Amino acid sequence: MPALESTADVSVIGLGRVGLPLALSFADRGLQVVGVDNDSTRLSSVRDGTMPFQEAGAQELLDRVHSDPTHPLSLSERVADAARARHIVITLGTPSFSHIEIDMRDIRSALDDLLGVLAPGHSLILRSTVAPGTTDFVAGYLAKHRDFDIGEDVFVAHAPERIAAGRFLEEIDTLPCIIGGVGARSGEVVAELFGAFRAPIVQTTPVQAELAKIWANILRYTNFALPNLLMMDCERFSANVFDVIDLINRDYPRGGIAQPGLTAGTCLRKDFAFSEERSHAPGMLLAVSRVNESVPLFLVEGIERRLGSLSGRKVAVLGLAFKADTDDERDSLAHKLIRLLERELADVAVHDPHVPTPTASLEQAIDSADAVVMAADHSEFRDPRTLAAIAERAHPDCLVVDPWNCWGAAQVFAYASELAALGAVG
Ligand SMILES: NC(=O)c1ccc[n+]([C@@H]2O[C@H](COP(=O)([O-])OP(=O)(O)OC[C@H]3O[C@@H](n4cnc5c(N)ncnc54)[C@H](O)[C@@H]3O)[C@@H](O)[C@H]2O)c1
Repeated sequence: MPALESTADVSVIGLGRVGLPLALSFADRGLQVVGVDNDSTRLSSVRDGTMPFQEAGAQELLDRVHSDPTHPLSLSERVADAARARHIVITLGTPSFSHIEIDMRDIRSALDDLLGVLAPGHSLILRSTVAPGTTDFVAGYLAKHRDFDIGEDVFVAHAPERIAAGRFLEEIDTLPCIIGGVGARSGEVVAELFGAFRAPIVQTTPVQAELAKIWANILRYTNFALPNLLMMDCERFSANVFDVIDLINRDYPRGGIAQPGLTAGTCLRKDFAFSEERSHAPGMLLAVSRVNESVPLFLVEGIERRLGSLSGRKVAVLGLAFKADTDDERDSLAHKLIRLLERELADVAVHDPHVPTPTASLEQAIDSADAVVMAADHSEFRDPRTLAAIAERAHPDCLVVDPWNCWGAAQVFAYASELAALGAVG
């Protein structure tokens, strides 16, 4: 087999929310990087020096990499070009089929594109979130089709991305970097690459790295399902969920229940399925998912219980992103909420200051609204002036639905006039 002649240090395949900040961070640490993506619009945006999505500090980082005279980042639409670098990091999307099974089509397609160009000395690193056993599958696939001795001449590892959106640049240097290498030397070779960052490196087996990543997300998804279920129970018993949560947590050493909200997003909504696909206790995590998925319907029914039919009534939905202060709408429950409201024949107006989808202005959305739903807890919304604007511009009997407790009023359903009387308004 011809030996590896690399002209770059690392390639990153998939310049999405994980891959692009990672590629820029490697380039910023002095590595020669090849960035690969099959979306030509995305590549043009990066080439032109414009971040295609929001990530705190990433535009400044892109500016710095762009102006570096050594041109540390080159871009390509061809996966095979990734083989110009010694290390190849895969940051492609890994959705879940509705069959409760990982959808690995992008990873399989990248592997097939790489098969013919891999050479001894290459390392292939799965940074995407994957179902347990996927890293061993990738190693087996390369061994089967190219006869490589994995861990001796070609290296394969899982190094899961554990960073939260919006915190990439801070956490890349602080969160322990888990590396699960296949065979004798993969872990040590891949650790050389991630040594570019200051974060501690923790070596483990591939399957333990996979389980640690998905179970961290399962823990979060479940943690949020509990207060969401409690919120629904409280409505049934005419209790106040925020009071009950305070009673649970206040000065109680074994408390710690989280706050309710619209729990979703591209990772939490699908990563549990990577455990569920082979679970010996099938159903538990599906129930967790069902709780979180039913929050939009719970909110719509709560509005109807108070206002009656929504047909022809104006409902403002504030927030399309799945979490505060991000422009990421993928798998946000706000979209489901809007669809459910529309099925009740409500006139829905939407405002979100962050997302790329065009939305109405805050004033247009809330003017004469019969109900306003806080679907995200963006900083702008938490500003008491937003509540003041609702009290001033919406219908005098406007119902405000705030599972996030944006203004500390501690009411999931309350009339704007009540909130004003509670002194929550500016
Ligand atoms: N977004 C997060 O906050 C986050 C956090 C931790 C882990 N993850 C995991 O990281 C992985 C990537 O997530 P993401 O949010 O960055 O996804 P993304 O959809 O933002 O990025 C994927 C990128 O790959 C490109 N792409 C798709 N198919 C391709 C192909 N065949 N060849 C080349 N490019 C291709 C797309 O154009 C896109 O730019 C997923 O497994 C996800 O679960 C995401």
